[in-house]
Amino acid sequence: MMKTLTITVAATLAFATLPAQAANPEAGKAKVQEICQACHGMDGLSAVSPEYPRLAGQHRDYLAKALRDYKSGARKNAVMNGMVATLTAADLENVAAYYSAQPTALYTRY
Ligand code: HEC
Repeated sequence: MMKTLTITVAATLAFATLPAQAANPEAGKAKVQEICQACHGMDGLSAVSPEYPRLAGQHRDYLAKALRDYKSGARKNAVMNGMVATLTAADLENVAAYYSAQPTALYTRY
């Protein structure tokens, strides 16, 4: 009994530490088109306003964490908390994969 429980717990932990799923940038692109591009642009360069951060070429992990934090409320922003409200955990990974794959326009000025 105890042994079965131990094995079950170990198997569950091993599974939980695997990446949720391979992110799918194509699925992310569809969400970006639907929601995000209005502010961040399809290219992630936010031509609309300097208020909107540039996401193109940003690290995927960084983007995914920012999105998870907006979703959980750990990071508070009235606009972005609303934007991720209807997105699933997989959607967040997918849009992060999409934007991180866009060519960056970041540069060092000084
Ligand atoms: C109505 C405009 C608007 C829309 C639409 C929008 N965002 Fe944002 N986004 C913002 C603003 C404003 C910020 C800055 C918020 C802050 O300071 O935390 C931001 C911040 C972010 C950040 C954090 C960037 C950083 O450098 O930390 C990410 C990631 C992000 N948005 C992704 C998305 C994604 C993905 C979508 C679509 C699901 C989306 N946004 C839709 C306005 C928008």
